[in-house]
Amino acid sequence: MKVAVVGATGLVGSKMLQVLTERNFPVTELIPVASEKSVGKEVTFKGKTWKVVNAATAIAMKPNVAIFSAGGGTSLEWAPKFAEAGITVIDNSSAWRMDPSKKLVVPEVNGDAITQDDKIIANPNCSTIQMVLVLKPLHEKYKIKRVVVSTYQSVTGTGVKAVTQLMNERQGISGEMAYAYPIDLNVIPQIDVFLDNGYTKEEMKMVNETKKIMRDDSILVTATTVRIPVMGGHSESVNIEFENEYDVKELRGLLEQTPGVIVVDDPSKAQYPMPKDAHDKDEVFVGRIRRDETQPKTVNMWIVADNLRKGAATNAVQIAEYLSGKNWL
Ligand SMILES: NC(=O)c1ccc[n+]([C@@H]2O[C@H](COP(=O)([O-])OP(=O)(O)OC[C@H]3O[C@@H](n4cnc5c(N)ncnc54)[C@H](OP(=O)(O)O)[C@@H]3O)[C@@H](O)[C@H]2O)c1
Repeated sequence: MKVAVVGATGLVGSKMLQVLTERNFPVTELIPVASEKSVGKEVTFKGKTWKVVNAATAIAMKPNVAIFSAGGGTSLEWAPKFAEAGITVIDNSSAWRMDPSKKLVVPEVNGDAITQDDKIIANPNCSTIQMVLVLKPLHEKYKIKRVVVSTYQSVTGTGVKAVTQLMNERQGISGEMAYAYPIDLNVIPQIDVFLDNGYTKEEMKMVNETKKIMRDDSILVTATTVRIPVMGGHSESVNIEFENEYDVKELRGLLEQTPGVIVVDDPSKAQYPMPKDAHDKDEVFVGRIRRDETQPKTVNMWIVADNLRKGAATNAVQIAEYLSGKNWL
């Protein structure tokens, strides 16, 4: 299968190449795509070097599938051109996520929503993916009324420039800033731009994408998204109120049986999920599961995942695997 990775020189794109290799996706020809400044550079994949091309050249090379992680502008401009040429696009940017004509997919949650006619499929926001994987079995069993989430997000969620900013600050080097403020020894309660309602775009992504992926507009979500000087993954403090009563032990058991979720929850041994441990893993880790003692039918938990893996590359490759399994590529 010919696979184009658009944004192959970026953080998500590089992770994509690693995940395609690890999961043994049947790539016979890789087409790495990046901006004009990178055309001609080489990337290594499966022990071979492949030349970076621009998007127009990639279309002419007729890949079966193109996995985009090159920013919303590139996706808006190029994804329709790939699709018109009959190439299925899996897009990591926010460009198409809330378009009613496009599917927004976490395979374990709503993979069945994809049809053969979907030529541009959106990969959700990283913070949303790790949360909905946990919410899905709980919604089925107890029906979720409201979710209050606060995130602690890794700098890798912003791309190469942000990782460089953090590393520069640690070494006392002044360089290009990805954020408006220093990130080392700091916490920035702003991810993406502010909207008229006082929330950030990242916060509203969590609200709106959750409803779309879970196919239930009745689920209320309120979010505060925060950037912290961490590399391994995103963490989330999540408070969930159910319609129905639940039992903590039963709920924990339910999550233990959920594919893609690993429960790490033993206060007696100080065991709980941390980004250091989630780094480079495909699973979503859950711990600190405890009853909210201030109101009935409500639980608190802590959810951690590597935003570059399940939050981006792994989820996109899983969508490609789903399509390939149906012979739709
Ligand atoms: N980081 C995450 O956790 C995460 C999670 C989910 C989704 N995403 C999304 O994934 C995308 C990339 O994120 P990232 O963190 O990998 O950013 P990044 O490290 O800054 O990489 C951006 C990539 O896009 C390429 N690019 C830029 N303009 C292009 C163009 N006109 N044509 C083709 N390629 C172009 C860049 O190529 P050059 O090297 O040539 O500049 C680079 O390969 C963003 O849309 C982001 O929202 C990121």
